[in-house]
Amino acid sequence: MSREITHDANGPKLIGEDELEEQGGSVHLCMCGLSNDYPYCDGSHTATTDEDADTRYKYENDDDENPRHVVAEMVFEED
Ligand code: FES
Repeated sequence: MSREITHDANGPKLIGEDELEEQGGSVHLCMCGLSNDYPYCDGSHTATTDEDADTRYKYENDDDENPRHVVAEMVFEED
């Protein structure tokens, strides 16, 4: 499983002590790339739970043509 994600930021985001304190001292950072509240997790990762291990996807939040579509599938050739 993998995803193609388009990012337009070109620098880091500082998460300062004040922001952490507002969040109760810890935050969940989005690692799936689908959050609408990036860099924080908003639960959007649940859409990835049924991804096939050998398939690469693109999602609606990243491409408004389709909710999720297959970009590529791995093909394994047998000898
Ligand atoms: S890890 Fe990306 S939305 Fe939760």
